[in-house]
Amino acid sequence: MYKKLTNNDLGIDLGTSSIKIAVGGKGVLIKESSCVVKDMNHKHIAYGNLAGQMCGKLPEELVFSTPIKSGVIFDYDNTVSLLKRILYRLYKSSTTGFRSVVSFHSHATNVEKRALEEAIRECGGKAVYITPSAEADAVGLGFNDDNYRIIVNLGGGCIEASLLRGNTLVKSNSLKYGVNVFDDAIIKYLKEKYGVLVGVQTARYIKEHLASAIPDMMATLQHVEPSLEISGCDPISGVPKYFKISHREVYASIESALTNIVVFLKGFLSSLRSDEVHQALNYPVYLTGGGSKIYFIKEFMESRLSIDFKVANKPIFLSSIGCLNTIGMPTKLKKISRHLDRWEYRG
Ligand SMILES: Nc1ncnc2c1ncn2[C@@H]1O[C@H](COP(=O)(O)OP(=O)(O)OP(=O)(O)O)[C@@H](O)[C@H]1O
Ligand SMILES: [Mg+2]
Repeated sequence: MYKKLTNNDLGIDLGTSSIKIAVGGKGVLIKESSCVVKDMNHKHIAYGNLAGQMCGKLPEELVFSTPIKSGVIFDYDNTVSLLKRILYRLYKSSTTGFRSVVSFHSHATNVEKRALEEAIRECGGKAVYITPSAEADAVGLGFNDDNYRIIVNLGGGCIEASLLRGNTLVKSNSLKYGVNVFDDAIIKYLKEKYGVLVGVQTARYIKEHLASAIPDMMATLQHVEPSLEISGCDPISGVPKYFKISHREVYASIESALTNIVVFLKGFLSSLRSDEVHQALNYPVYLTGGGSKIYFIKEFMESRLSIDFKVANKPIFLSSIGCLNTIGMPTKLKKISRHLDRWEYRG
């Protein structure tokens, strides 16, 4: 049974890279970078996407920070200020109280889960429920039967593999880094190969436009240019340098990070009971999160692990959509309601 939702119902995904909020009756309305810029007196200068664009371009007197790391709140005060600003923009005033489901990654400790719940309350949440992000993804994908399935979330700040039965989490394991490490790999490659410095924003732009997991398949994509013109600077003189980077070079820089994800997934699969994994593999393994948008990641995973994969629809927004849908499912909502100790998983 589904209940009708209103714009006071929010599905919130506080991600390392961005905060996504789905609003009842409206869908996903918010995607803002999880970034804050302050001056030396701790006065906030910019939040969200605007702050994100300032990354790497700030004068010395301004401080850039990312208050959510590896999917958990790292800097409580900045997270609350950021979220308050975002909600103020959403409701065009201070919020009078909303109902929300918020997702957390399975490696979050109980203290971190409480901080998450508390942060949402401080921002005006009157009924706050927390749910594992894999369960939110499963709800977003419409899983509501008794079958085992596997979801792999390739987020910016962490990578999480989960076994679910229907939309209930059975077991989860995560890496405390995500596809943001590809940005660092691209920066390192460009410095070593061309002696050029680029910022995180440029590296991310390169990744989001050119990163593929199987470079030989890129020629099949007519709409994608095989290389990008980029500007960086000489690390010593600071003089601007212009250069071209090809998709093959991007692949070369991220290849070992991709292999690490495969190794992690192999480990996760081998940690599952054989009957569970056997049943789960009757279905494809679902890829969610921004990393699943890397070109040919599905084909790459299939070739390395010899199992079927499927990239979820709207992979970046799935968790916030699943959180919102959970509010409309009274039985599920009751199940997840505020018993933090329930979230101790088979390790
Ligand atoms: N088209 C794309 N190609 C490659 N990577 C992409 C693409 N779009 C987004 N990304 C990357 O996905 C990551 C963000 O994904 P997502 O929004 O799922 O993470 P998050 O929820 O903020 O982080 P986490 O769940 O780990 O806390 C960023 O590293 C971003 O650069
Ligand atoms: Mg996420």
